[in-house]
Amino acid sequence: MAKQIILLSLVALSCAFLAFASDPSPLQDFCVADPASSARVNGLACKKPASVGANDFSFSGLHLAGNTSNPNGSRVTPVTVAQLPGLNTLGISMVRIDYAPWGINPPHTHPRATEILTVIEGSLQVGFVTSNPENSLITKTLQKGDVFVFPVGLVHFQRNVGTKNAVAIAALSSQNPGVITIANAVFGSKPGISSDILAKAFQVEKSVVEQLQAKF
Ligand SMILES: *[C@@H]1O[C@H](CO)[C@@H](O)[C@H](O)[C@H]1NC(C)=O
Ligand SMILES: *[C@@H]1O[C@H](CO)[C@@H](O)[C@H](O)[C@H]1NC(C)=O
Repeated sequence: MAKQIILLSLVALSCAFLAFASDPSPLQDFCVADPASSARVNGLACKKPASVGANDFSFSGLHLAGNTSNPNGSRVTPVTVAQLPGLNTLGISMVRIDYAPWGINPPHTHPRATEILTVIEGSLQVGFVTSNPENSLITKTLQKGDVFVFPVGLVHFQRNVGTKNAVAIAALSSQNPGVITIANAVFGSKPGISSDILAKAFQVEKSVVEQLQAKF
């Protein structure tokens, strides 16, 4: 009996952890974000249900290509709770990503979401790196229609390996996945991380670090 109770508690505990692996589950039909509210909650405060309409659950424009004229040669068009208030508390969001030929979506991580991506046009090399100590690179070239998943928190990237534009649509398991672009966070923080620290971390001369910091 005691054994069964311990087993049951373990199962209950692991379910509790699973439930918190992404955004918490909603306790009501919806909670359309009210950006005007000053209430501080984990997410955004809810609009009065009576003042909610279809437009709160809708976003238009993902058929439009993003402008890829930038050093990355890519553009992410997000549809998170900031663009679609009805996503508040639902634990889900999506993005369209446009890539110029050889454009990249540079190495980055989403602290709060797993991402599942599908190629709509063109071909992409994608990859992610496992955590320490292995730091294994898992990489693959995807064609139109292929799907790939980037596990929550891991550093990942995409590159257009075609001579034409590429387009991907991705879904993320958070209303507000967050993005940490590695180069910008490490070399572009404000104020900058001391170049002594980065020189030691990357095992290069301080001048190399300063050159990188000047780019962000
Ligand atoms: C795309 O972005 C570039 C750089 O910001 C800008 O010069 C250009 O006008 C933009 N193109 C369009 C079609 O908006
Ligand atoms: C590349 O894209 C990332 C994420 O979209 C952005 O944070 C970064 O500023 C861009 N880098 C350059 C050099 O434009």
